[in-house]
Amino acid sequence: MEPRAARPALLGGLCLALLLLAGAREPASGDHEWKKLILVQHWPVTVCEEVNDCREPPDYWTIHGLWPDKGGECNRSWHFNLDEIKDLLGEMKMYWPDVIHSSPNRTQFWKHEWEKHGTCAAQLEALNSQRKYFGTSLALYKQLDLNSKLLKLGIKPSINYYHLSDFHDALTRVYGVVPKIQCLPPEQDEQVQTIGQIELCLTKEDLHLRNCTEPGEPPPAKRGPWAAAARGLSVCESGPVFYPPPPKH
Ligand SMILES: *[C@@H]1O[C@H](CO)[C@@H](O)[C@H](O)[C@H]1NC(C)=O
Ligand SMILES: *[C@@H]1O[C@H](CO)[C@@H](O)[C@H](O)[C@H]1NC(C)=O
Ligand SMILES: *[C@@H]1O[C@H](CO)[C@@H](O)[C@H](O)[C@H]1NC(C)=O
Repeated sequence: MEPRAARPALLGGLCLALLLLAGAREPASGDHEWKKLILVQHWPVTVCEEVNDCREPPDYWTIHGLWPDKGGECNRSWHFNLDEIKDLLGEMKMYWPDVIHSSPNRTQFWKHEWEKHGTCAAQLEALNSQRKYFGTSLALYKQLDLNSKLLKLGIKPSINYYHLSDFHDALTRVYGVVPKIQCLPPEQDEQVQTIGQIELCLTKEDLHLRNCTEPGEPPPAKRGPWAAAARGLSVCESGPVFYPPPPKH
C-alpha cells in the first residue's frame, strides 16, 4: 500500500501536516501505522488441499506468520539474511515450514514473511532484528501452544464435522480473547467449509493476547481485511466446519 504516492498533492500536504503534528508521538511510522500483531497459524492439510501440491503435510498447526494488522514491505532495503537465524533453523523447519512448496529450499517463505511483515513489525524494539522477529514468533507459537490446547479441548481432526462455534467458543474460553478463524469455502454446494487458519492477536505494547476484534466491534461475520491475501481463505461462516485429518500414507 502506497497511498502517499497516489494522492493528489493537496491531500499529500495535508497528510504531511498531520504527520508532523503527530510526529512528536510516533516518529517514522508514516503509512505503516499498525495497532496489533497477529500470530497466524495454519492447518497444513487444508493448505495442501487448496494448492494440490504438497506431500505429507505436518499433522500439527504450523506458523504462517507474525503480522502487523496493517501495512506491508515497510523497508525494502532490509533484506532477508538466513545467517541471522542459523541457530533457529531446527525449530523453523519444524514449526514454520513452507507447506506449499515442496522444493528443498524452504527459505523463500521466511524471506517473504520477513520482507512483507517482519520489516513492519520491526518498528518494535522487541522485534527489531530478524533474529528477534523469528525468535519471538517461535516463542509465541510455543507459549500459546495451540496444538495441545485443541487436543485438550477434545478438538481433533475428524471425518465428522464440527460447528464453527466449537472452535470459536473453545478458543475464546481457553485464551480469554476472541480469535479469528478462517476457512476454505466449500467447493460445491453440498460440501462444507474447511478450517484453514487461526489468528490470535497480540497487543503492540507488550505482546500480550488481546481480542482480534476492536473494542465495541462485534465478531466479524463475513470476510475480513486479510481474506484476499490469504490464498482463498476467508473468515468462516457460522455452521458446520470440516477439520480434515492428514492423508494416510
Ligand atoms: C531499513 O533497513 C536498513 C537495513 O537494516 C536500515 O539501515 C535502515 O535504517 C532502515 N530504514 C528505516 C527507515 O528504518
Ligand atoms: C535458498 O534461498 C536463499 C534465499 O533466496 C539463498 O540465499 C540460498 O542460497 C538458497 N539455498 C539453496 C540451497 O538453494
Ligand atoms: C473482548 O471480546 C469480548 C467478547 O466480545 C468482550 O466481552 C471483551 O470485553 C473484549 N475485551 C476487550 C479488552 O475489548
